[in-house]
Amino acid sequence: MACHLAGSAEMLRELESSVGAGVSVAGVSCLGRCDRAPAACVSVQDSEHEHFFLGRSTDELKEIVGSFLRVEPVTEDHDADWGAVAGESLVDSHGGNLPRYSAARLVIEARDASLRKAGEILVKESGWGPWQVEQFRLGCIRRSRVDLRSIRR
Ligand code: FES
Repeated sequence: MACHLAGSAEMLRELESSVGAGVSVAGVSCLGRCDRAPAACVSVQDSEHEHFFLGRSTDELKEIVGSFLRVEPVTEDHDADWGAVAGESLVDSHGGNLPRYSAARLVIEARDASLRKAGEILVKESGWGPWQVEQFRLGCIRRSRVDLRSIRR
């Protein structure tokens, strides 16, 4: 729905009519990036990775498709570049500036700052690329979730 409201149906029609042979354009279900709609995903045959482009215009997506076809480097949009705290995100999952979420905000800000610093170190000292840093960040976030059902009062 977020992408639809951002004009994805028209974008799809325009892209379908402009891309050449060897390229398939299709609408898909939500890509989980509703806050950065319209979201697009490029899958290259025989590649294990998908490439996400968020909030891009139709003209930009045409350029991106052309770059993939010419096997040129493409700058994709990584989740790691997106902040999950108020002020950096279009969607505030903690309900504006309600005081009851202040502790959650502090925890998320501290977590994100630590992961950004860790990512910088991994890039600098281990030569990691953006995809590896993003997988590291996601893995850390998943492991840091607290199962409230396991906490006894
Ligand atoms: S509706 Fe497009 S990413 Fe969710």
